[in-house]
Amino acid sequence: MSNRKVYTDYFFDEPAYNTHDGGYVPLVEPTTPQQPLRIPELLKPDKETASDMYYTVTAQAGEVQLLPGAKTETWGFNAPLLGKTILFKNGKTIHITLKNDLPELTTFHWHGLNVPGPVTDGGCHAPVYPGESTEIQFKCHQPAATLWLHAHPCPSTAEQVWKGLATMVVVKDAVEDKLPFPHHYGIDDIPLILQDRRFHENNQWDYLADYDPDGVQGPTPLINGTVNPYFDVTTQRLRLRLLDGANRREWRLHFSNDLKFTQIASDGGVLPEPVDFTHLMLTCAERAEVIVDFSGYKPGDVVTLYSDDIPIAHFRIHEFAPDHTKLPNHLVDIPDPEVTANAPVHQVVMSGMDEEVMINNQKFDMQRIDDRQQVGKVEYWDISNTNDKASGMVHPYHMHGTQFRVISRNGHAPYPNENGLKDTVGVNPGETVRLKVWFEHLGVYMNHCHIIEHEDGGMMAQFEVYDPDHPKKYQLMDMTTLMNAFAKERGVKVSDLHIPGMDM
Ligand code: C2O
Ligand code: CU
Ligand code: CU
Repeated sequence: MSNRKVYTDYFFDEPAYNTHDGGYVPLVEPTTPQQPLRIPELLKPDKETASDMYYTVTAQAGEVQLLPGAKTETWGFNAPLLGKTILFKNGKTIHITLKNDLPELTTFHWHGLNVPGPVTDGGCHAPVYPGESTEIQFKCHQPAATLWLHAHPCPSTAEQVWKGLATMVVVKDAVEDKLPFPHHYGIDDIPLILQDRRFHENNQWDYLADYDPDGVQGPTPLINGTVNPYFDVTTQRLRLRLLDGANRREWRLHFSNDLKFTQIASDGGVLPEPVDFTHLMLTCAERAEVIVDFSGYKPGDVVTLYSDDIPIAHFRIHEFAPDHTKLPNHLVDIPDPEVTANAPVHQVVMSGMDEEVMINNQKFDMQRIDDRQQVGKVEYWDISNTNDKASGMVHPYHMHGTQFRVISRNGHAPYPNENGLKDTVGVNPGETVRLKVWFEHLGVYMNHCHIIEHEDGGMMAQFEVYDPDHPKKYQLMDMTTLMNAFAKERGVKVSDLHIPGMDM
């Protein structure tokens, strides 16, 4: 037994939980039979050498048998729904052909990857039009982590992610390889992409019918694109790479019998120290890698994972070999650079709910740069949520192009599992979260709330990472170009185009 403290609460402010929203859609336990959890295949590189990896990532449409009866029409990356898991090795140069086989434009955003913006990063400035493809290339230079790839074509990000354009990206490195973690992908190291959907007539999804400016939700938990999944446990320890891939939903996770589990990594990689708890809350886009130890169970037992009080996955215990591995109390050293002397403190104020959402009193504008930071400098960013404490919501704040450190919450220590690298942090109503931020690459990047409807609705801004010795000019996309393209692709007049985020 370790001597570490076991936390038993969710850390976040209870009055701000999404369960208190007027439009909250509670999860409902599926009544369809349990199905084996889908484990996304690893995407095969087109080629790999000692120094380079080559991939083709295709955004495509398809259909999947999710429920008995009609198949559901879906989108995905190299797969009909969600996608194959993409593996990058730290230190290698990665070459990717981005191919769009969808009927409309999309973008390929590498959430959590430290790459140049705005094109390689894949936000709204980097559309790939239907039938076209483009190439990106970058050096993978960051520690082992669970990241993800998702569509990001403003203001249709939310709808495209809802249709399925989200998949896991795993960075591997030599440090993490040597840590005593489960390492067998698909066996004792598995992704768990947490989403929710509403099934309409004929088992189809209908984003517009379900639209809510505070975030679209559905009652059916969808785990790796599986309704009512079970997983066959054949090892004592199981590593789960949890991703809140939902548009709006918070997941408050706990196992049957309050089984203790251990977080070993956050958004940007391995934590300095493991954190033990019985309850874990994830806000949109956050990742947590956890290890669950089933030593107290025997073949035939089932351990259930819940969100609030709804079962979302079932772990069926089989025979496994005893595993006496102990996690050390110190896992890795986390970069903690000194803040640059005389640096300004950046201010990001997230305000409003529904259609009123803004950052620093402005809606997003693709052509406007709202803030700047010099490459290599280390600066504080203060992120505030001005929502009312009693009736407001947690806004998950995300920055492209960096893995930051969380310094404080209203002047107090961050949560115990926020001592590693992160790219998304839930900010409670009435709270200011101080981040320490630095960048390795030049570019224009986005920062926004990751409730995707808030992002599409304008709770988003842009900043430039610059080098005074090498000033750059960026070709920035504009809304008219994107809207005209969507209209043409959908065969309607721009005035008849219905993308909810655009009219805010
Ligand atoms: Cu997950 Cu702007 O990103
Ligand atoms: Cu991102
Ligand atoms: Cu928000």
